[in-house]
Amino acid sequence: MTGSRTESACLIESESFLRLRDELVARVAEASAQVSGIRAPVSPELSARLQQELLPQFQKDRGRNLFFPFLGSGLGCGPFVELEDGSVKYDLITGIGINFFGHSHPELIRESLNAAAADIYQGNLQPGREAAELLRALISRVETTSRLRHGWITTCGTMANEIALKIIRQKKFPASHVIAFDDCFAGRSTAMQEITDNPAYREGQPVHGEVHYIPFYQPRLGLQLSLEQTLAAMKSHLARLPGRIAALMMEPVQGEGGFNFAPREYYVRVFEEARRAGLAIWLDEIQSFGRTGQLFAFQTFQLEDYVDVVTAAKMLHASAVLFTEEFNPKPGLVAGTFSGTSASLRVARRVLELLDDGYYGPGGKIDRLSKRFAAGLEKISLGSCQGMLTDWRNIGGMIAFQPFGGALDEVKAVLLKLFDLGVVAFYCGHGPYLVRMLPPFGVMTDAHIDEVCGLIEKAILEVAHQKKGSK
Ligand SMILES: Cc1ncc(COP(=O)(O)O)c(C=O)c1O
Repeated sequence: MTGSRTESACLIESESFLRLRDELVARVAEASAQVSGIRAPVSPELSARLQQELLPQFQKDRGRNLFFPFLGSGLGCGPFVELEDGSVKYDLITGIGINFFGHSHPELIRESLNAAAADIYQGNLQPGREAAELLRALISRVETTSRLRHGWITTCGTMANEIALKIIRQKKFPASHVIAFDDCFAGRSTAMQEITDNPAYREGQPVHGEVHYIPFYQPRLGLQLSLEQTLAAMKSHLARLPGRIAALMMEPVQGEGGFNFAPREYYVRVFEEARRAGLAIWLDEIQSFGRTGQLFAFQTFQLEDYVDVVTAAKMLHASAVLFTEEFNPKPGLVAGTFSGTSASLRVARRVLELLDDGYYGPGGKIDRLSKRFAAGLEKISLGSCQGMLTDWRNIGGMIAFQPFGGALDEVKAVLLKLFDLGVVAFYCGHGPYLVRMLPPFGVMTDAHIDEVCGLIEKAILEVAHQKKGSK
């Protein structure tokens, strides 16, 4: 102890700690280097253990099957992930958007090891330096350009959205209803499943009738017609429920709904109308956070002026709700035992720092890789997969394509084929469905993208061949 530093700081800055920590990081890097490309299961024993023991037991315990026969070993290398059978695949969905910096990233491992001198968990009554630093890191990146001034760190996207809804309802009391968009996703708690526009996700659950849907932007209609539809539906809800609607909730880029987004003018006109009606503007950026070429999509679309409350999670490695002075809730409304593990809070702060380094803006790494991916998909769609890769869309690190007519079974067939070929992706959309990718752009190169596009082409062609054979 020096008098100017805590014991904890002395420990993690001490020569012996740094040496041991960096040795550990180097050991992980050595192992990681062994899984730096697609490979098949390494032995019949490991295959049998995964297929006949680990997966069946896990699925039995869960009471339902996994989408893919995927059980990660915990190790990876950049965009590659090792599974429990020793096979290695490209991970282009990253747990639906967690690992933007891929697997076994040395900087993030180093950062999580620094948490060895901190409590495992932090929370409302046990905050540590990590929680304070993360919140500051988030607010400092938006406070000069938006009205966002405060925030709350929590454990998952759903919880961040719950807090967003509560603080809005408290401010707008007695108004409590929400206008949301067709095809939106907000999470799976009792309140969020009601906002989520998917009846299958709330089967057997009570619905309280406080959420009203309006259509989102539709490229096939264009700006004017989309706006007319959206605004007419919004006005009709407002007229039917005067004084009862508290918020307009929007994913500026719909995730689960199919990577739908709009031109800036659409958002501006919709938010102007919402503001005129006194609604809070609540943006769910849980999936779009960090991916669209700026930290938040509201920055990408230059909507800073409109946002009252915004939520972020997934690639942050923690979750957060940020809000304006006006929406700062009264004491008692928001608390929680857990705000996250010290390791995840440290990693979240480090993710923000890494993102500052060349990822954003036109010509930034996200923009460049996104364009390369889009060019690859376009080439396939115009070449060997003409009429088979029928649509694709990209905004930064959110990339989706539609195989064939976009029927769910066609998309699933392509996903399973891709999995066999060594690429993990997922789906989105509500019909037509699309193959969804949230790739780890933080660790991807042009060569990776070219290889993945080649595998996508192969998967589509093989599924097309199977379809023909089954006719
Ligand atoms: C837009 C959006 N909102 C909310 C959530 C819920 O987040 P979580 O699964 O971390 O609770 C998700 C998760 O997929 C999401 O994509």
